[in-house]
Amino acid sequence: MDEKHSRTLKRSGLFFGTTFICIGALVAALVLAVVAQREAVAPKTGPKTYSTVATGRYADAEFPRIQSSCNSTEVEFLSKAFDETIEATSYAMSVLTSNDSVVESEVYKRWFGDGKLYEVMGVVEGIANVSKTSLLLRCDDADGLCKKYQNYYAGHHREDHPYETVICDYFYEARVPLSAMCTKGNLTQYGPKKYYGIDMLHRYFHVPSITQNEFISEFTEELNETLALAKDNSSFAVRNVDNYLYFLADLWGNKVKKGGCFDN
Ligand SMILES: *[C@@H]1O[C@H](CO)[C@@H](O)[C@H](O)[C@H]1NC(C)=O
Ligand SMILES: *[C@@H]1O[C@H](CO)[C@@H](O)[C@H](O)[C@H]1NC(C)=O
Ligand SMILES: *[C@@H]1O[C@H](CO)[C@@H](O)[C@H](O)[C@H]1NC(C)=O
Ligand SMILES: *[C@@H]1O[C@H](CO)[C@@H](O)[C@H](O)[C@H]1NC(C)=O
Ligand SMILES: *[C@@H]1O[C@H](CO)[C@@H](O)[C@H](O)[C@H]1NC(C)=O
Ligand SMILES: *[C@@H]1O[C@H](CO)[C@@H](O)[C@H](O)[C@H]1NC(C)=O
Repeated sequence: MDEKHSRTLKRSGLFFGTTFICIGALVAALVLAVVAQREAVAPKTGPKTYSTVATGRYADAEFPRIQSSCNSTEVEFLSKAFDETIEATSYAMSVLTSNDSVVESEVYKRWFGDGKLYEVMGVVEGIANVSKTSLLLRCDDADGLCKKYQNYYAGHHREDHPYETVICDYFYEARVPLSAMCTKGNLTQYGPKKYYGIDMLHRYFHVPSITQNEFISEFTEELNETLALAKDNSSFAVRNVDNYLYFLADLWGNKVKKGGCFDN
């Protein structure tokens, strides 16, 4: 708004008129924003909303918000995935903290090589128990990518809205519970993202508050590179998403079956 406009009465009237319109538009925008915000947070009054069965170490952990674009069937499924994020991470923490030579164990060495235990513990603790209420899951295929990559994309991170993740219909079809570990295929065949809890953790790993300025990142794309990172470059293995996903799944496999269900 130009200063000169207020110099004459007439102009001043125009000025105030315009100001009122501007304020009106601002108020309307704010109201819309508040409504939109409410819409987004509607299903969330706290973690208990998801009625997870988690007990123990992370019994009161926070989970992402779920947008109202997700229907009740989807919310129920996503809540089960939240549960399993806790199952997998709390089991890993119990293993990491219960044996003073855990860094010598086959599973630890396979995924982290001579990587530092405290770094691994920090990341596992963090992914389980840092605040996640700014994370939003939505089910509306906001960018059309679920449709575009039908039967391939189970979900995707939104680069332009870094706290948002779209969950595609394929997620519910393709993902299985940890209880299917070693029975419906195995880790070598399907990889860790086959399990919905582990895949959910993978999605958390894209969000800025979790990556902590790319401390955690996807440095590798293929299994052979992930294994090689642990072997030759452990200071990056302890910062690499896939090393964590494989580690968590592999540990779980060893819990349900002697020797696990990863074979190299
Ligand atoms: C972290 O875990 C503690 C113990 O379960 C819990 O009280 C707290 O709410 C959790 N924090 C978050 C941000 O999830
Ligand atoms: C939720 O959405 C899915 C996929 O769009 C649909 O198959 C399912 O029937 C819906 N469930 C309810 C309760 O509306
Ligand atoms: C601790 O870990 C080491 C290395 O994997 C293993 O040999 C040992 O049996 C474990 N001890 C217990 C009590 O689980
Ligand atoms: C370790 O991996 C990182 C990430 O891929 C890479 O930038 C770095 O050059 C690697 N270091 C060695 C010694 O290979
Ligand atoms: C992984 O396998 C691909 C081919 O599948 C190969 O091009 C690449 O060099 C391998 N990387 C390592 C680190 O072995
Ligand atoms: C995993 O599945 C592949 C392909 O079916 C099979 O060859 C391999 O023996 C299985 N490994 C384990 C440890 O179950």
